[in-house]
Amino acid sequence: MKVDVLLGLQWGDEGKGKIVDVLTPNYDIIARFQGGPNAGHTLIFEGSKHVLHTIPSGVFHDGIMNVVGNGVVIDPCIFREEIKKLVDKGVNIEKNLLISKKAHLILPSHRLLDAASEQSKGKNKIGSTLKGIGPTYMDKTGRNGLRVGDILSPNFKEKYDKLVEKHTNILNHYDDFEYNLADLEGDWFAAIEDLKKLQFIDSEHYINNAMKANKRILAEGAQGTLLDIDFGTYPFVTSSNTVTAGTCTGLGVAPNKIEKVIGIFKAYCTRVGSGPFPTELENEDGERIRQEGKEFGATTGRPRRCGWIDLPALKYAITINGVTELSMMKADVLGCFETIKVCTHYEIDGERIDYFPFDINDVEITPIYEEVKGWNCDLTQLTNLHDAPSELLNYILYLEDQLNVPITVVSVGPDRKQTLHRKSSLNA
Ligand code: GDP
Ligand code: IMO
Ligand code: MG
Repeated sequence: MKVDVLLGLQWGDEGKGKIVDVLTPNYDIIARFQGGPNAGHTLIFEGSKHVLHTIPSGVFHDGIMNVVGNGVVIDPCIFREEIKKLVDKGVNIEKNLLISKKAHLILPSHRLLDAASEQSKGKNKIGSTLKGIGPTYMDKTGRNGLRVGDILSPNFKEKYDKLVEKHTNILNHYDDFEYNLADLEGDWFAAIEDLKKLQFIDSEHYINNAMKANKRILAEGAQGTLLDIDFGTYPFVTSSNTVTAGTCTGLGVAPNKIEKVIGIFKAYCTRVGSGPFPTELENEDGERIRQEGKEFGATTGRPRRCGWIDLPALKYAITINGVTELSMMKADVLGCFETIKVCTHYEIDGERIDYFPFDINDVEITPIYEEVKGWNCDLTQLTNLHDAPSELLNYILYLEDQLNVPITVVSVGPDRKQTLHRKSSLNA
């Protein structure tokens, strides 16, 4: 069997966690391939809400194996808290969670470096989640990092001290940045001891053997395509490859072993943190989306910036990822509008373009909109798309026509049950 991939097509928070949870019964293994505790994936079912940061979103289903791949970065302290919550909810984490020995560790000093870097950037800050993601991936590519497998090495502390010395040298170069590393270290080393109780694996072997044994695997992305280190709105991005290619490097899956690519997008658009956002609505409509969609970060609680759907960006994301099917999320949120706008083009210096250009940071982009009639009603009780208002069906068909990829799932509320499956007339 090949691997299916599910990932975000916008700036993250598209609803990946919800759809992974919905699709998990079709799989044997759910595997995260990149990112770390900067992610916040929300699952709602049976009246309870759960937010996952590093652990794959298949974890609430019995008999499913959840793998944290080599491309992920782990903060042992956050990991421990996440596990504690799951254990309290009766999840058998010791049995159904496997961690790659090659996943990199976020040190307390990585978190400090993240904070120091952001502080020094002033108004140009990235708006990082301050979880130490950037510095940890920098140490990975700089060949200085510590990996989960290193925990078991007798000279782990020596390796740790060497890296931290490097970090403190850098931290001391920042003016006005005060820190107390010793305060953070005790808890971190205690969390390392807890991490040791979990199962470490060579995840690339595990995943490839599972494929050979005909196991069904879903790779779960974090963040979104427009936050990708290569293809996102650089430098306002995260530090990993959030796109389909990240599955290959983050799990050891060969490119020809990828089957479906499920792209998740909101019926509108959001972004949290700094950086360009051509269709952002800094007005009443934006506020309406924020309130209706409860657009506040699952990891940091920050209000998310809101705007209309952006087709040039979405088409770009579909191309880069090779998306074979789409899930449209949060259709219910647009139920408060009589008219919905769709950005079909950008205008830059009087020129109209329909592609995602190199520079969207330092140029003035005017989004060109088409107006679509809204359904202007409550969708949250909808259980079948046959009963959907014609305006919603028209919106779906309009987007499919523009994007040329089938929309197979339409989400009308945060609960697992508020998920409508759809047969598209487009071939995958
Ligand atoms: P992720 O990071 O992609 O997993 O997404 P988040 O969990 O950060 O953000 C998505 C938010 O939207 C969460 O609060 C979900 O509970 C919520 N959500 C997901 N799908 C829907 C939907 O169809 N309608 C509404 N109203 N909320 C949804
Ligand atoms: P999920 O998986 C939305 C954003 C941050 C910041 C930038 C860099 O829940 O969709 P980082 O901490 O990675 O250095 O931050 O990326 N960001 C996210 N935005 N959803 C996420 O994850 C995000 N992870 C990081 O807000 O702008
Ligand atoms: Mg999120």
